[in-house]
Amino acid sequence: MGSVMYSCVTDFFTYETTKSVVVKSWSVGIINRIVQLLIITYFVGWVFIHEKAYQIVDTGIESSVITKVKGFGHHHNRVMDVADYVIPSQGVGVFCILTRVIITENQFQGKCPEVASKFNCETDEQCQQYLNTVLSNGVITGTCLNSSGQGKGQCEIEGWCPSENDTVEIEPMLDVENFTIFIKNSIRFPLFNVTRGNFPSSMTAEEIKTCIYHPERNPFCPIFRVGDVLSFTGQSVENLAQMGAEIGINIQWRCNLDLDIQHCVPKYSFTRLDAPFATNAVSKGYNFRFAKYYKTENGTEFRTLHKAFAIRFDVMVTGHAGKFNTIPTLINIVAAFTSVGLGTVLCDIILLNFLKGAKQYKAKKFEEVSDAQIEACLTQSPGSELSFRAGIKRSYDSGAVSLAASDQRI
Ligand SMILES: *[C@@H]1O[C@H](CO)[C@@H](O)[C@H](O)[C@H]1NC(C)=O
Repeated sequence: MGSVMYSCVTDFFTYETTKSVVVKSWSVGIINRIVQLLIITYFVGWVFIHEKAYQIVDTGIESSVITKVKGFGHHHNRVMDVADYVIPSQGVGVFCILTRVIITENQFQGKCPEVASKFNCETDEQCQQYLNTVLSNGVITGTCLNSSGQGKGQCEIEGWCPSENDTVEIEPMLDVENFTIFIKNSIRFPLFNVTRGNFPSSMTAEEIKTCIYHPERNPFCPIFRVGDVLSFTGQSVENLAQMGAEIGINIQWRCNLDLDIQHCVPKYSFTRLDAPFATNAVSKGYNFRFAKYYKTENGTEFRTLHKAFAIRFDVMVTGHAGKFNTIPTLINIVAAFTSVGLGTVLCDIILLNFLKGAKQYKAKKFEEVSDAQIEACLTQSPGSELSFRAGIKRSYDSGAVSLAASDQRI
């Protein structure tokens, strides 16, 4: 029992190392070094220098955006200011600038004819098929209002009257191109407790009042001209003001905190978010309705309905920050060293299959041992250097034949 335990212990405390075959061949040697060089270059150049694998990264950026639009436009023969054309008015990161508004004034609750040509009718039956439609301006009553008596009538609706006619031609407010958007963005990387703002605190009040963002000349100015933003996305005010659009303003923060914090600055980019629908026949652009409510002197409610076509701006903030850390550095160094060994896999394939003398290499690399050979060894006198004893051990960890110290002749 004791001897079994003892042999178990001695079996455990052994070290196994692989036997190497040195191949003195120029071609395989050169391929081997080139593959190793490629792997090292990949790790040093791409993984460490470009991807900064030695850093720990914080992607959970916290951000807050405040916006303010300025400018005056002309629409419906009146001057429009910020309170008229920006919705919502709170200055949030997603806001709309109205570019074209169809106004239907003095709507009262009641019954009146629908205006859309889809609801033309001659008889009540024709209107009854629309009873549950949601495409009308009010609830269809099923009556055909035939005012002229000439056969051409309109289905009657119950709701806010007169009903809106949104096919009228109204010139969009092209002054939008000279409006400016001020964006105040503050961010924080919680992992490193770093906070930054999108314009340097050294900027004077005068500079902030007069500057206009330009990607090269003025990349940190927080004031954007709407016409510029649209042209950065490849669009023009004339194209978008008619039907509305969605524009994305992306603020990207990529900070390497191993460098000075002054290098942690925002980078702006602009996209047209509704580009996939730009050529669609339906649901083109962006519009919505809102109403303002009033009361007559005797207390009856009426309203002014606005159908607004708007350019919607989404200010999106993305980013990450990285800083040196020992754990990712060690993990990636180990991965690099392990990967250098991958060169041998490729060289083995070439060596054992495609090279002249592949058979001989194979014979050197793989030693075949059969039962018959072992038998032969056992019957020989045990004077040879390498003698297999009766208690030949099959190692459990790699299948290699293990040579115990006692196997060697002293
Ligand atoms: C925008 O401003 C420029 C220069 O001040 C002016 O020439 C242009 O007419 C303005 N655009 C509109 C649509 O008012």
